[in-house]
Amino acid sequence: MNLKGRSFLKLLDYTPEEINYLLNLSAKLKKEKKQGKNQKKLNGSIALIFEKTSTRTRCAFEVAGADLGLHPVYLDPQGSQIGKKESIKDTARVLGRMFDGIEYRGFGQEIVEELAKHAGVPVWNGLTNEFHPTQILADFLTIKEHLGGLKGVKLVYMGDARYNMGNSLMVGAAKMGMHFVACAPKKYFPNEELIKTCEKIARGTGAKLEFIEDPMVATKGANVIYTDVWVSMGEPDAVWEERIKELTPYRVTKELMQNASENCKFMHCLPAFHDLKTTIGKQIYDKFGITEMEVTDEVFESEYSIVFDEAENRMHTIKAVMKATL
Ligand code: CP
Ligand code: NVA
Repeated sequence: MNLKGRSFLKLLDYTPEEINYLLNLSAKLKKEKKQGKNQKKLNGSIALIFEKTSTRTRCAFEVAGADLGLHPVYLDPQGSQIGKKESIKDTARVLGRMFDGIEYRGFGQEIVEELAKHAGVPVWNGLTNEFHPTQILADFLTIKEHLGGLKGVKLVYMGDARYNMGNSLMVGAAKMGMHFVACAPKKYFPNEELIKTCEKIARGTGAKLEFIEDPMVATKGANVIYTDVWVSMGEPDAVWEERIKELTPYRVTKELMQNASENCKFMHCLPAFHDLKTTIGKQIYDKFGITEMEVTDEVFESEYSIVFDEAENRMHTIKAVMKATL
């Protein structure tokens, strides 16, 4: 398997064999790191462009980069010319002359695609509105560790399935032969075109895709229940009221976890609103009187929850993506 020079922009661009290769490489690198092995086999520098904020993705790129011997340069949402004074195409041609790889987190998927088209070095998608592919690698590594494999695993995604996480989990599940269920009111299902693309992939891999509005029907027999914030970065504050009203029935509760299969896991890409220990959590409480949103604190802190294994795996999987493509 040779992925050298490839960008990692969305899972749609990768075959199931290539995804599997990246997952196996992640597991190998994770094991090596735990054994304290020196992994500094690469030389060079990487640019980390963040037009939206981040804890996990930024730290994963920085730590993984340092472990591999790469020098990371962080470009924060305000601190560069990108987009404001310099086009993406020009930025790509500048950074491509200095760096060996470029990570981009920001808005439309077309931006990261444009960057990759002109950079001349691998570009990695650290989250766009449409896709979050490095997150899915971490999620799938975590599922493999806890459930032994991916094929046939029933993963139910609760909440806004039209955005980066719902879209990417559906694509990943279709590629890896999983049973994906989006559970939300109809308007929150992924767009028709992406569903059609994934259904076509699913016919070749044996995956099953379902779109169900009733949470008790959707979660029956689930192996993984997954959720994400109800309002994503970059969306206007004005949508909170509607989201709270429409998605509260889709909050992940103990009742839903108990409705699933016996060994069901709770997953969340994080950050999560499960208590009042955040500024936004407090603001929402003051305005709408709710103390938790997409998941109850009880489930988040329970034995079902594998969210911190998932967060750790961001680093090992991002390391694999850089190692494979550089
Ligand atoms: N899950 C995730 O991408 O987290 P950050 O926004 O902290 O990078
Ligand atoms: N849907 C979320 C994911 C954060 C990792 C967002 O885009 O803000």
